[in-house]
Amino acid sequence: MVEIGYRYGELYWGANDGNWSYADYQVQKIRLALENALERRPKRRASTESTFVPVLNEMARVVQEHDSARFGETFEKVTAACNACHAAEEVPSFYVVAPQARTSPIRGESN
Ligand code: HEC
Repeated sequence: MVEIGYRYGELYWGANDGNWSYADYQVQKIRLALENALERRPKRRASTESTFVPVLNEMARVVQEHDSARFGETFEKVTAACNACHAAEEVPSFYVVAPQARTSPIRGESN
């Protein structure tokens, strides 16, 4: 989950930079990290596949289409889906909001 939190932030900054290949990489890494998390929590798999995964798939499409106009609203949906799982998993105090500051040095080749 620490990794997912980090990659969620990097997805945000990458897309805001128009660094779509980096944003796409982060979406794929979130998918992998989530898969690993679900292996440890098999009971959450069904609900995650019906709620979080479709939203992540939508984000993957937005990123692959370099659709900056739709990125913001889709990122809000991802954020809501993160928080829905945290509420369901009884960690509602792990409330996710869009990042306020950058932690990674990556800026993309054109920035
Ligand atoms: C399948 C349910 C689920 C989904 C989906 C989910 N989380 Fe979590 N998250 C958890 C649980 C449960 C914890 C509590 C710690 C643990 O058990 O790993 C957690 C903890 C965290 C933590 C704290 C990690 C730490 O140890 O400091 C962060 C950050 C986090 N999640 C970010 C996110 C973000 C961002 C998203 C969406 C992109 C997300 N999570 C989606 C279940 C989920």
